[in-house]
Amino acid sequence: MNHKTDQRRPPRHAPPLLTITSARTENLDPLSRASIIRVCVAAHQEESFKHLFTYIPSGGYHFLAYQEQEIVSHAVVTTRWLQPEGMPIFRTAYVDAVATIPVLQGKGYGSTVMLELAHALSIGVGNYQIACLETDKPGFYTRLGWQSWRGPLAGRGENGLIPTPGVGVMIFRLPQTPRLNLDSGLTIEDQGGRIW
Ligand SMILES: CC(C)(COP(=O)(O)OP(=O)(O)OC[C@H]1O[C@@H](n2cnc3c(N)ncnc32)[C@H](O)[C@@H]1OP(=O)(O)O)[C@@H](O)C(=O)NCCC(=O)NCCS
Repeated sequence: MNHKTDQRRPPRHAPPLLTITSARTENLDPLSRASIIRVCVAAHQEESFKHLFTYIPSGGYHFLAYQEQEIVSHAVVTTRWLQPEGMPIFRTAYVDAVATIPVLQGKGYGSTVMLELAHALSIGVGNYQIACLETDKPGFYTRLGWQSWRGPLAGRGENGLIPTPGVGVMIFRLPQTPRLNLDSGLTIEDQGGRIW
């Protein structure tokens, strides 16, 4: 891995007083974990984010925006396995828990976090072949270079495919991403109840 973690550096498209760091899940101290949960719960109005570190006990790449000492925006990448129809299974950077605290939304923090995340993946962090996320806010990601998958979506379960119509899935092409047909089928492994 050629990307330094736990190191603060100036972002390329920075709102004032912003620093961006990245850290592996296992290197996050309890205070940082509590702050990330606070940001996610407040942004999504969703208490289930209190269990974020149960779902991601280790191995995630967290991208964090700080205003002075406070975490104000976050996104995390974990490894999953996408398969476009007729293609091999791709080692996939799956993005979750994208959140900016409500009072600081609209000031560029979320975009900066997502640009930093895309840059890190593009230079080889995690050795991923493609990035993916599920969202009901495609407009936010489209302006950052993400593309909506237009074809049919499904989970790959033990007993076959589980269609997931009506879900908004987007991908981000990395240098290693082969040519793709966004109108073809796209599947992802069923994670024991969670698909996208
Ligand atoms: C989505 C979210 C992470 C964006 O973070 P942020 O720090 O407010 O983002 P930024 O300030 O960098 O960017 C906001 C820009 O995106 C635009 N934007 C935000 N949501 C958008 C949407 N649904 N469609 C199109 N554009 C959108 C804003 O208009 C703004 O544009 P501007 O820079 O031209 O003014 C934040 O609003 C948030 O935490 N929302 C609640 C949780 C959530 O929905 N997370 C994503 C779910 S996948």
